[in-house]
Amino acid sequence: MQYNAYENILCVMDNAAKKAGIPEKDYMLLKYPERELKVSIPVEMDDGSVCVFEGYRVQHSSSRGPCKGGIRYHPHVDMDEVKALAAAMSLKCAVVNIPYGGAKGAVRVDPGRLSQDELKRLTRRYIAMILPIIGPERDIPAPDLNTNPNIMAWMMDTYSMLKGFAVPGVVTGKPVEIGGSLGRREATGRGVVIITEQILRHLNRCGRGVRIAIQGMGNVGGTAAGLLYSKGYRIVSVGDESGSLYNENGLDIASIQEYLSKRGNFLSDYNQGNPKHMTPDEIITCDCDILIPAAIENQITESNAERIKVGIIVEAANGPTSVKADAILDKKGVVVVPDILANAGGVVVSYFEWVQNIQSLMWDIEDVNLHLENIMLKAFQDVLGASGEYGVSMRTGANIVALKRLSAAKKIRGIFP
Ligand SMILES: NC(=O)c1ccc[n+]([C@@H]2O[C@H](COP(=O)([O-])OP(=O)(O)OC[C@H]3O[C@@H](n4cnc5c(N)ncnc54)[C@H](O)[C@@H]3O)[C@@H](O)[C@H]2O)c1
Repeated sequence: MQYNAYENILCVMDNAAKKAGIPEKDYMLLKYPERELKVSIPVEMDDGSVCVFEGYRVQHSSSRGPCKGGIRYHPHVDMDEVKALAAAMSLKCAVVNIPYGGAKGAVRVDPGRLSQDELKRLTRRYIAMILPIIGPERDIPAPDLNTNPNIMAWMMDTYSMLKGFAVPGVVTGKPVEIGGSLGRREATGRGVVIITEQILRHLNRCGRGVRIAIQGMGNVGGTAAGLLYSKGYRIVSVGDESGSLYNENGLDIASIQEYLSKRGNFLSDYNQGNPKHMTPDEIITCDCDILIPAAIENQITESNAERIKVGIIVEAANGPTSVKADAILDKKGVVVVPDILANAGGVVVSYFEWVQNIQSLMWDIEDVNLHLENIMLKAFQDVLGASGEYGVSMRTGANIVALKRLSAAKKIRGIFP
């Protein structure tokens, strides 16, 4: 049977609901996204021709507040993927208990093939076409795969021009100059570090001697590596799409980061301190204590899960572990901290950005980081509590916490009319 991301997330919900004894009637509505919008986006190309791209915005649930979720530009995205990602956002926002529902948007395009002007026209037309269903009080987009603060600025400007006044709270992940939040860029990596330290403390594995491997040295992995290194942890392996490095005594992350900050530099060419070079995927099974996959989805699969040596995995990437691999890890006793908890720092600070925008306030970085830490610590305890109470993995525990909050909100509000 062909893999269907949406069917998969429905199975995850059913499994968590069964374990927690949540009756189907209480969460049944969460199996149906509230609204699915598909738009055709005509774009005048630089050579005068016209191309039409397909765009989507799915609002999964608004029971707990406005819908929230990123917009990705990708040539292979489809409605089922967007529906699954929107549902995952509902679960993620509920796990960290911020007053949002879930949404996701996408445009089926390879942005690398467009000029900056074409990309700008595509973005502006897409926002104009989904404008009736977005807004600071109903649905707030953010960056995702292949979209960035610059694109968020075009989105904010388009929405504001069509409304006739500046509306910074319509998207998050904006440049700071137009209402972006301090600390947003580092928020996901910072959240990953908070959760990593919590799981170590919980398992009595405290101590800077633990050996950490991080796959992905981009926004999330790079920030997490830098923060852990500055706290004195031993990072024995890091990887990117070109390859991975390994040094049992610990890598010099500051030097690696400086090297990577130069455009076009990849880890496969880094040789300072004579690290052992490995392929991009060898990092998954390397000899260490904690693995932080922070690159792309589907990296831990049934083909490598059995060979994994770590006792702890902190999922910084979205969906790095396949369903089959998850079962293998569970059997091996590997503790997996799931993505909807581990990488939620980004959406938490997006929430802070929106809060600042709608109140016309500007927080200090200290306030942002303190509030982020409080929310992540509380969410960690909630998930741990649920996994202990029901005797389930942290992944199922996180889904139980989320489903309970989502179904309670639906039940209390009732069905209109
Ligand atoms: N940026 C955020 O705020 C945020 C929030 C939540 C979740 N995430 C998730 O975190 C992950 C990383 O996001 P990011 O923003 O850091 O992306 P990024 O593009 O900044 O970095 C990705 C990193 O992964 C590496 N990589 C790509 N393909 C690889 C492969 N096949 N093998 C090994 N390494 C590979 C790249 O070289 C790069 O170092 C994604 O799954 C994303 O969905 C990001």
